[in-house]
Amino acid sequence: MRKHWYDQQTIYQIYPKSFNDSNHDGIGDIPGITAKIPYLKQLGITTIWLNPIYQSPQVDNGYDVSDYYQVDSSLGTMTDVETLIKTVYEHGMYLIFDFVLNHTSDQHPWFKQALADPQSKYRDYYLWQDPAADGGRPNNWGSFFGGSVWAKDPAGGSQYYFHLFDKRMPDLNWKNPAVQQAMRDVAEFWVEKGIDGLRLDAFIHLAKADFRQTYPNRTGDSTPIISDMFYAHLPKVHQYLHDFVAVIKAKHPDTYVVGEASSADPHLMVDYTTPGTDECDQVITFRTFADDNTQDDPSFSDTFQPRPMDVTAYKQNTVGIQAALADTSLPTLYWNNHDMARVATRYGDPDYPQASAKALATALYLQRGIPIIYYGEELGLTNIRYHDIADFEDQTVPTFVASAQAAGKSKVEIMRMLNQTHKMAGRGPMQWDNTVYHGFSDHLPWKHGDTDDMNAQAEIADPDSIYHYYQQLLQLKQCAPFTNGQFIMLGSAEQLFTYLIDDGQKQAAIVCNLSAQAQTYLLPFVGGKVLLVQGGATYRGRQVTLPAWSSLVVKSA
Ligand code: BGC
Repeated sequence: MRKHWYDQQTIYQIYPKSFNDSNHDGIGDIPGITAKIPYLKQLGITTIWLNPIYQSPQVDNGYDVSDYYQVDSSLGTMTDVETLIKTVYEHGMYLIFDFVLNHTSDQHPWFKQALADPQSKYRDYYLWQDPAADGGRPNNWGSFFGGSVWAKDPAGGSQYYFHLFDKRMPDLNWKNPAVQQAMRDVAEFWVEKGIDGLRLDAFIHLAKADFRQTYPNRTGDSTPIISDMFYAHLPKVHQYLHDFVAVIKAKHPDTYVVGEASSADPHLMVDYTTPGTDECDQVITFRTFADDNTQDDPSFSDTFQPRPMDVTAYKQNTVGIQAALADTSLPTLYWNNHDMARVATRYGDPDYPQASAKALATALYLQRGIPIIYYGEELGLTNIRYHDIADFEDQTVPTFVASAQAAGKSKVEIMRMLNQTHKMAGRGPMQWDNTVYHGFSDHLPWKHGDTDDMNAQAEIADPDSIYHYYQQLLQLKQCAPFTNGQFIMLGSAEQLFTYLIDDGQKQAAIVCNLSAQAQTYLLPFVGGKVLLVQGGATYRGRQVTLPAWSSLVVKSA
């Protein structure tokens, strides 16, 4: 049953620095976004999600917040945000903000105060631990950004502070009621300003286990190792989440809360989204994706080796999530976000760029759930290709480079792998037209490199473009049976993705060929009306013929 505005939305994710530059500095900004609201409306978007726009030293492009009540000056002003909120509202759309609640920047006044005065109340806003018996780090837990989660007190004290991400992003102490209150206040400030929802960043890490614990390894050395069992999905997360969300929803019941639960399996997804518990309305998991690692080169690190999709495993993951959430909440449906390479590069077929983009979109977005489209995806935008290792802004990259070099890989090969797989290659500027810098800016963009020749203006002018296909697909999504139908996976050959959407009255079959090889398929019913077709797919009776990367959506009679 659809009860809330957010049960029937199509989200568009904007990485603000890379969307549209209005003030000629090569960095996208808020007025640039406001100017493109009509474009998004036209595409069929109902909700916009902005990656963080708060004041930040930009160590992690905005996920390191130094003031939650200010807009970063490179992106605009508070007045610009107010204008954006108003414009979104006037277009009958919704706006959600990224909300970074697990950590702050080390430049946040709380952390500065915590360092300057260990007796201050702000010391306890963060997580501190005494050294281990040998004077070293308290334990061997690893940071997601490489190395240890522990950094020595920069003010010279003997203690270490905890950082799950970069060491310039200290984790907040959610055991402290003052921290909980402070973060509720921030959320309330923005909701009162008029935003419609929050994307809770990394909320699954709010609770941490006892720091005296070590993750056992065979050698007994203290090399840092990712230790999710100590800092992901601990039971206390539910309470922190509930206490935060319940207060916001008590005053603003229409606020939408989508949580980033990157490592959540279907059961955890159910736990975080069970109606009535005041946790998340939906979650975003990364566990849908499945790549085929059987072709990996074992002679060097696998971290950034490109891999094709493992279609069967992807289908299995999809079924697991759809089945688990069928009576609980709506899954989020996405192919890419700012933490991964672009789908056109990862899974698209360069020999069939248009058809593969359309087939992949069809396989996903008509499923039961909420589409989240990553800016530029609607054009089939591929990764930007950098020339310099430093462009990846990632301290784990040099380790990969060293390992690949030791295995005899050339610089060109190494850059090719990184440009295909790295998240930073998915964060290039949006391509609006065919002028210099693709109409993103008239200044050299903050991220620049080689890009494929495609842009919004050209695609809007071409009725067969990926843009227009997305537009049709999103329109279809607003019609029965897709508005309220159940997801039913259909059996098919390995490279086919086939399912039914059934709302009890009407059924639609979705048949997608995710390969360059021609395929055939037998529909479960004698087809009625074709709702959407591309790539030359045809059917007669029950028999569907699918050339490379084609797809067909057909409704029962
Ligand atoms: C965001 C990342 C960010 C991290 C730390 C994530 O889950 O999506 O882009 O680096 O949180 O805030």
